[in-house]
Amino acid sequence: MSPEKAHMDALVAQLEHHNYRYHTLDAPEISDDAYDALFRELQELEAAHPQWRSPHSPTLRVGGGLLSGLDKKAHRRRMYGLDNVFNAEEWRDFVERMRRALPEAPLAFWCDPKLDGLALEIVYENGILTEALTRGDGETGEVVTAAVRTIKTVPLRLRPPAQGGELPARLEVRGEVVIFKADFAALNERRDALGQKTFANPRNAAAGALRQLDTTATRSVPLRFLAYSLGDADWGGAQPCTHQSELMARLRDYGFQTPPSGRLCAGPADVEAYVEEVRQRREHFDMEIDGAVAKQDDLEAQEALGHTARAPRFAVAFKFPAMQARTILRG
Ligand code: IVH
Repeated sequence: MSPEKAHMDALVAQLEHHNYRYHTLDAPEISDDAYDALFRELQELEAAHPQWRSPHSPTLRVGGGLLSGLDKKAHRRRMYGLDNVFNAEEWRDFVERMRRALPEAPLAFWCDPKLDGLALEIVYENGILTEALTRGDGETGEVVTAAVRTIKTVPLRLRPPAQGGELPARLEVRGEVVIFKADFAALNERRDALGQKTFANPRNAAAGALRQLDTTATRSVPLRFLAYSLGDADWGGAQPCTHQSELMARLRDYGFQTPPSGRLCAGPADVEAYVEEVRQRREHFDMEIDGAVAKQDDLEAQEALGHTARAPRFAVAFKFPAMQARTILRG
């Protein structure tokens, strides 16, 4: 390999590292200026040697390409919605149905907040981001790869596991695209100051940004991606995950953010306690949440339980009532 190509690869690795420190861990190691200098150096080398540009180069995040329309594509595995429960009694009925369907199913549940954003699927082949699809109608989604590449918390290449071992041959990572409440307020203030139309809520802003044909517009909206499950997976030489709780740790190792405050609950009563905690802290989360989700922790049991026509039998959403705010009109 030529020394210049090797230097370009080293720059890619350094920028990936600093991007992860800054955006995903919120713990930068170098100044913005130092980062920009590395970035510009890579951009110049890529302009001089386009044949050596890496398919996961951080310069690909810049966007700016104009698409003529969004392509549609079928999901390999359907993206289901979740059935809702509204109280403890309905939750206990859900557990009872689960036990009848699979008497040997363990009663441990992974729980996390239900994020009020947009479901997204990101495909990694040999660790490299190759495609991203919206949920669409669940069967078929829209191809939003270019827009998703501009989201700073989305790894363009999976981080190799710290304990060693291979990356999966092909992995569909599913999660939610959200905008943090503080980022949303700043975004609307900025738009207001520029005389632009403000967004009604973070979800609308996120939906619009993701489906932009001009990714320069996507980049101006502070989107984040929080990973919470998988679609189709071909683990190849990598060790497959056996539990949802293990999967969440693995997704973080790969470089993803995951929903905050997720935890393993030891039984149905512990799930009820968890949901109460989240309900009480609801307004203190960085992003809008509209409930909590409980998932069978054992992935083999998830598979065995399968789905009804509309939703999985292994997971359920506790829905909170829509948030209400009161405006006091003074004069
Ligand atoms: S798990 C089949 N976890 O809610 C299980 N979904 O109303 C896969 N959602 O389509 C989903 N937060 O897009 C899961 N912490 C969370 C979630 C979550 C939000 C979305 C998801 C789903 C919708 C159903």
